[in-house]
Amino acid sequence: MSTNKVAVITGAARVIGKAVAEAFVARGYRVVIGDVIDDVGTETVKELNRNAEVAFYKHCDVTSYAEQEALFRFAAESFGGIDVAILNAGVAEIGGPFLAQEDLEVGLRNLDVNTSSVIRGTKVALPHLHKRGGGVLIFTASIVGLGTNYFSSLFPIYTASKHAVVGWTRSLAIMKDAVGVRVCAICPSWVETDIIKMSSGFVDAENKVPMSTVVNAFLLAIDDPSINGDCILALPHGVEVERADQRRYGSEASEEVKNAYWKEIAAAHRETLDTAVAKLNI
Ligand SMILES: NC(=O)c1ccc[n+]([C@@H]2O[C@H](COP(=O)([O-])OP(=O)(O)OC[C@H]3O[C@@H](n4cnc5c(N)ncnc54)[C@H](O)[C@@H]3O)[C@@H](O)[C@H]2O)c1
Repeated sequence: MSTNKVAVITGAARVIGKAVAEAFVARGYRVVIGDVIDDVGTETVKELNRNAEVAFYKHCDVTSYAEQEALFRFAAESFGGIDVAILNAGVAEIGGPFLAQEDLEVGLRNLDVNTSSVIRGTKVALPHLHKRGGGVLIFTASIVGLGTNYFSSLFPIYTASKHAVVGWTRSLAIMKDAVGVRVCAICPSWVETDIIKMSSGFVDAENKVPMSTVVNAFLLAIDDPSINGDCILALPHGVEVERADQRRYGSEASEEVKNAYWKEIAAAHRETLDTAVAKLNI
């Protein structure tokens, strides 16, 4: 399968991100990976390039706005534009008593990587996707972004960080009308990766999600044009979609008034992004 499409994926040197990069390359995408484990990322890209040069690796600590800007600019310059941005990098504070000072610092770093960096990455990615005439913006959240489980007190900051990503996703559904960018959050349950090795065994008895199911969730995000502002759950038994409007509350205003406001706000976002594209000269 061949396409001229380009995806940027953060945190894709290994496991989930790497599996998604492989699936996108198999679909004919060219991919640019940003991560902090440079030796692993370089090896991953070598594997992706075994038949043709379709992938690049660039060091990118997502907590740095400048490094995310450089990653996206590099991808656009290398491959001519960006159609899909996958903000996947994440860390987990699992296992520590979160009130201890040193663990608090680790926990707060969770928020910076998992939440603030998704916000940074969104701001960086949107002008590129707009320049391309639209695209898809995918965040890797988690099933604990939608609720808690029996163990959530062991990783409350991680849980909060992923709830924030889900809220961010639902809030951005307007971008489809503004600039043709669909947004969604992938919410996997436990997947056998390095991130859960920190769990000290408490998830050993839990059913794990096959990596193929996680990858299918990402592919659904790009294949299904009706997905927008939604969460795609990757569960041990398969993929499910939780629609954003299942959780949209309030406003006594009439549909007519709400639609008029929606259009006005979408136009304001489009204008802001027009300005961003011109200013950034991308
Ligand atoms: N494994 C699971 O059970 C599970 C479940 C739900 C969600 N997730 C989410 O999936 C995503 C991928 O995690 P994974 O399970 O593949 O774990 P992982 O630790 O193997 O991968 C995380 C990747 O992010 C990178 N990363 C960490 N900090 C970074 C930073 N500051 N800048 C750039 N890259 C950074 C890591 O180097 C690594 O390549 C994460 O967002 C994670 O929270 C994982």
